Amino acid sequence: MSDAQYDIPRGAYLQGGYNTALTQRLQAERHLTKDMLMYPIFLTDDPEAEVTIASLPGQKRWGINKLHGFLEPLVRKGLRSVILFGVPLKAQKDYRGTPADDQEGPVIQGVKLIRSSFPDVTVSCDVCLCEYTDHGHCGLLRDDGTIDPPPSVARIAEVALAYAEAGAHMVAPSDMMDGRIGAIKDYLTRSGYGNRCCLMAYSAKFASGCYGPFREAAGSVPNFGNRRCYQLPPNARGLAKRALLRDASEGADILMVKPATPYLDILAEARIITPNHPLACYQVSGEFAMVHAGARAGVFDLKQMAFETVEGMLRAGATLVLTYFTPDFLEWLDEPR
Ligand code: PBG
Ligand code: ZN
Repeated sequence: MSDAQYDIPRGAYLQGGYNTALTQRLQAERHLTKDMLMYPIFLTDDPEAEVTIASLPGQKRWGINKLHGFLEPLVRKGLRSVILFGVPLKAQKDYRGTPADDQEGPVIQGVKLIRSSFPDVTVSCDVCLCEYTDHGHCGLLRDDGTIDPPPSVARIAEVALAYAEAGAHMVAPSDMMDGRIGAIKDYLTRSGYGNRCCLMAYSAKFASGCYGPFREAAGSVPNFGNRRCYQLPPNARGLAKRALLRDASEGADILMVKPATPYLDILAEARIITPNHPLACYQVSGEFAMVHAGARAGVFDLKQMAFETVEGMLRAGATLVLTYFTPDFLEWLDEPR
């Protein structure tokens, strides 16, 4: 064998190219940085609350009086952005989601607190009605239980403006109603917030099994039915592309794909068909819970798998990642790698 001649092209020899930790890192087009992480936070209407959420390891529902103390160490570690979710437990829910834009409610109070305490943190608000409606759906309903789009969109735009007026740098409608991106952009612009508030569209949001822990955390399980008539069917590649293109044309500033890991193909296509927008993805509650459950069961290492999932999102084209791992990454990114 020693004199055997193999006619193998030199380009076939790859392993020399990644033989050190450094050359392994150099294979990436982009590395995860703290700028790319947005942390979802649950704010409830008991000011003193600090309540563990069993299905979301390490995450809590926070009351307004606990928010500063919770965020301060994270901001010191480099937290750049948050997205706020309201969890009304005492407020009276109704057909139109009245507590969503309550001036005394936790989201509006939370925006004001973060703006005044942490000037370098970009504050976003999730905009939806499901946490605030008595029926638990994301819009207003007709008598037959179907979504009534025009009043839904009008109400969602009203809530978005209230968050912008409170000081939110960004609003992120997650309801999936037709026409809401154009309506919100118009309303913000006509009200003088066009250049003060960024519009991040949950564009390709799928009707996923991965939202379970969130719905427990936010108290937003629908009373009847499901969300399959407004969130996208998991097999719907064409609809997802149409939704991304539509939201881009209606004036979204950032586009989102959600969930992330089961939809990396959609993310990669979004990078191609809407290349001129920052592209977000949401590693949702069930994805986060899965990584924790796997690690707890000894299937894999938590940190390794957290990096692997998020690096997959970056490779697919994400420029912003919403993840409950943000506090962990703020520490991990400071460790030698
Ligand atoms: C509300 C909303 C949901 C999530 C973000 N906004 C749940 C849903 O649509 O049922 C999911 C976030 C997560 O699971 O982490 N419209
Ligand atoms: Zn909703």
